[in-house]
Amino acid sequence: MRAPLPSPARSPFLPSAAVATDPVAWLLDCHGRIRKVVGGVRALAGAAADDPRAAQTAQDCARYLRIGLPLHALDEDASLRPLLLRGPGAGAVERALDRMSSEHERIEAGLPQALDTLEAAAAGVLVAGPLVAGPLAELAGWLEGLLLEHIAHEEQHILPAASQLSPADLALLARQMRARRSPSPVGAES
Ligand SMILES: [Fe+2]
Ligand SMILES: [Fe+2]
Repeated sequence: MRAPLPSPARSPFLPSAAVATDPVAWLLDCHGRIRKVVGGVRALAGAAADDPRAAQTAQDCARYLRIGLPLHALDEDASLRPLLLRGPGAGAVERALDRMSSEHERIEAGLPQALDTLEAAAAGVLVAGPLVAGPLAELAGWLEGLLLEHIAHEEQHILPAASQLSPADLALLARQMRARRSPSPVGAES
């Protein structure tokens, strides 16, 4: 029996069908990717200098931080935030939104250096190992301390409020998130 033909490759910049119509699940899906990237950087910092997977891991992490993470921050700042601020629960979530947006600025400010480190690792200039892993370990610590704390705060204080938005606002949020990725630059997953 012949093996079935593979289904056409799904566009890499749109969410899976399971979360495409539920923007809160989509944002959580993005957080899953962020956790994977942070774990990837931590693994990279501890990898052997001659690990053949190191360059690909560094490239994958860099691509997400360069393209996917800024899209995710825009979803939250430019789409979700105004919807929450015009809703009946705005007072309760306003401080959490302010913290979210100021952390986005801190994260954005640190990204150029993070990308330099990962691109150097991908190019083999900076290979993991006891003598040269310092910048990667430092980057992993920065991501863990800022980014993981950031998404945990959002999951505790912001996404529960988002799930209370009206069906019309949730549909608008999903439309804006899709539009932001279309036409889709290669690798614009988030
Ligand atoms: Fe965020
Ligand atoms: Fe987020």
